Amino acid sequence: MKLLDFGSLNIDHTYQLPHLARPGETLASDSYHKSEGGKGFNQAVALAKAGQEVHLAGAIGQDGLFLRDYLQELGVHTEQLRVLDAPTGHAMIQLDAEGQNCIILFSGTNGMITEAMIDEVLAEFGTGDYLLLQNEISHVDSIIRAAHARGMHIILNPSPISPELLTWPLELVEWFILNEIEGKDITGETQPQAILDELLRRYPACHVVLTLGEHGSIYADATQRIYQGIVATHAVDTTAAGDTFTGYFIHALLKGEGVQQALKTAACASAITVSRPGAGRSIPTAEEVRAAMKGARQG
Ligand code: RIB
Repeated sequence: MKLLDFGSLNIDHTYQLPHLARPGETLASDSYHKSEGGKGFNQAVALAKAGQEVHLAGAIGQDGLFLRDYLQELGVHTEQLRVLDAPTGHAMIQLDAEGQNCIILFSGTNGMITEAMIDEVLAEFGTGDYLLLQNEISHVDSIIRAAHARGMHIILNPSPISPELLTWPLELVEWFILNEIEGKDITGETQPQAILDELLRRYPACHVVLTLGEHGSIYADATQRIYQGIVATHAVDTTAAGDTFTGYFIHALLKGEGVQQALKTAACASAITVSRPGAGRSIPTAEEVRAAMKGARQG
């Protein structure tokens, strides 16, 4: 069984601010840093740090080669990462004193994934392999259709949510890992249990993990619902918290740990990410997560 993460890679430009800019306001930043990010990238990093063998497919420009270097350092397979003659995608991240953020995306090479590239990449994968997708690259709907035709299991993190996403063939998705806002936009429902009810009404065979910020997360399928609380932490930077959760959850699940344990591990890993500045590099290693879980049990 192989796991393919077909997703975005960004150069993150993060500006620390006293508060998120208001309309018409000009704000001076206390600090600036440039780092590796993008939802596809961050999730591949989380998977690799968790101990999962993972392939990342996507596209960067020459200015983004340092992203590939970091992935290779972690042992992520990068054979399906294309280097194009265009700027790498980037994110402008405003970060306030409470660690909350606000992100502007420029798609760059993330928006240059073609149908031909999709065919080339998926030709290396087949029945029983897993595919992880987010919503920061072009033609995700085509990737879903082509991967389903090849017999792959599809996991979708529908982030960031967009109107086009609602037209995708979501009935082909086996696993949804999404937050409350994405859940609301997809189903039209506002309460967590109603979001889960509606997703399962539309896609009865799917599995859903709904994350609820400080209220934890809920797993749901046709027969059961499992709740998991958060691990309390001091928030420094929430960037990549959801990506960490997704990567650690999938790894634990593929390892056969069971949903409750997978939710627990994912909650602990994302709490560590939130306590540190940055995106991909703030994601903890499996050892750090194990130590934190042991501490949490003893404390
Ligand atoms: O999920 C966090 C990521 O979202 C950041 O790294 C940024 O690049 C945006 O894609």
